[in-house]
Amino acid sequence: ATERTLSIIKPDAVAKNVIGEIVTRFEKAGLKVVEMQMKALSQAEAEGFYAEHKERPFFADLVAFMTSGPVVVQVLEGENAIALNRELMGATNPKEAAEGTIRRDFAESIDANAVHGSDSAASAEREIAYFFGK
Ligand code: CMP
Repeated sequence: ATERTLSIIKPDAVAKNVIGEIVTRFEKAGLKVVEMQMKALSQAEAEGFYAEHKERPFFADLVAFMTSGPVVVQVLEGENAIALNRELMGATNPKEAAEGTIRRDFAESIDANAVHGSDSAASAEREIAYFFGK
């Protein structure tokens, strides 16, 4: 089915000048960018976005990293978009990410891991509404 998913190009990838290379991977895989905004997340915005991780030990570092520089927030649309985007991204930890994935090729660490992508239909709906409304 055609789905929509939320993608964030994180501060490390923006700083590395690979926004275009990452978007090209989405486009080459058949995902269409239907919303896109470059922005600096406030602390409150980053905390709210990652609220489900509030109790995790890495939460403070995650929020600090996501507010360390501008990000590119996008909605990607296409057949099976949620799973396809996760396939293109690779494992959360770049050291475990498969060859040819975005995180393997552009990310340095589990914190600075280049991209975020919604992990389920429910997350996609919440995350898209969080940044772009209904
Ligand atoms: P993301 O998909 O944006 O969702 C939460 C982020 O927390 C994750 O990518 C990682 O960048 C970061 N993170 C840091 N440490 C961990 C960890 N141990 N497990 C999962 N995510 C982590």
